[in-house]
Amino acid sequence: MRHALPPEELARDERFVRNSFMARAADPRVAAMPAEKRARRVPLSPERAEGPDAARALMHGIFTGEIQALEGAGRTCWDFPTGSGADEAPFELKLDMARQCWDEARHCEISVKLGDWMGTEIGEFAESVFLYEAACNPDPVLRLTGVNRALEGLAIDVFNTMREFGITSGDPVLEFCEDWMLADEVTHVKMGSDWLRRLTADDPDRRSRALEFQRVVDKLFSIGGARGEEEDSPIKLARRFRELAGFNTEEIDEIAALSSESRQELDAYQARAASKAAEPVASGAAPESGQG
Ligand SMILES: [Fe+2]
Ligand SMILES: [Fe+2]
Repeated sequence: MRHALPPEELARDERFVRNSFMARAADPRVAAMPAEKRARRVPLSPERAEGPDAARALMHGIFTGEIQALEGAGRTCWDFPTGSGADEAPFELKLDMARQCWDEARHCEISVKLGDWMGTEIGEFAESVFLYEAACNPDPVLRLTGVNRALEGLAIDVFNTMREFGITSGDPVLEFCEDWMLADEVTHVKMGSDWLRRLTADDPDRRSRALEFQRVVDKLFSIGGARGEEEDSPIKLARRFRELAGFNTEEIDEIAALSSESRQELDAYQARAASKAAEPVASGAAPESGQG
C-alpha cells in the first residue's frame, strides 16, 4: 500500500459530491446578497425558519468530517516508519491513532444514522476534504496540531453546539449521540496536546512550527467568525471542554482572537467582492452602438 495518499484519491462512491472550501468562500451568489444576509452569522436555533435545515447541513458536514478523521488517523498509523526520529511516529502514538480510528468509525455510523434521523441523505450537501488535507502534512507532529488540536478542537465546539441544539429542540437522540461523540473528541484533542508536548520537549523549533500550523488551521476554520465567542457566532467556542482536552486559558483566548480576526477579514473580503460586483461594466466591454 502506498504512503501519503493525496486527497483527490480518497475512496467515495457516487453518492458523494466534492467541493472545495475556497470555492464555497468565493461563491458569487454570496457576493450578490445584501450585506446583512451575506454575513449569515445567526445562532443555530430550532425557532428560526431555517434552523432545522442549518442543523441538517451541519450534521452532514460532521458526517463527512468523521470519514476524513478516520482516514487521517489511519494514514498516520501507516505513512511513517515506527520510531522516535523526526520523520517517524512512535509505536504508542500509532496505538493512539488506532484507537482514534475505532472511535471515528463508530462516529461515522452514528452520524449517518443521525443524518437519516434528521431527514438527510448522503450527498445532499457537498463534501470539502480540508480535514484530510491537514492530515497530509509530512510531519506527524504537524498532523497532530493541525488535525487533532485545531480541527478536532473545532469538532468539540461543533458537537457542543449540536448537543445544545438537541436540548433546545427537545430531541434526546441528537443530544445523547452528540454528548457521547463529544466525550471521544475531547480524548482525541487531548492526544494531540499530549503528543505535541512529548515529541517537541527537546525541539523548540519543531514545536513552534507545529503551533504555527495549528494557528493557520484554527484561523482558517474559524470560518469568518462562524466559530467564536461573539453573541451571533453560530458555533460557540466550548471553553470548558477545551480545558479538559489540554488547552490552557491563554491558548483558548488566542483561538477567540483568531476568530475575531477571521470575522473582520471575511467582512472586508465580502464587502470588496460586493462593491466589485456593483461596479458598472468597463467602457471597453460596452456594447457597440453600431451607428457610426
Ligand atoms: Fe469523530
Ligand atoms: Fe475525532
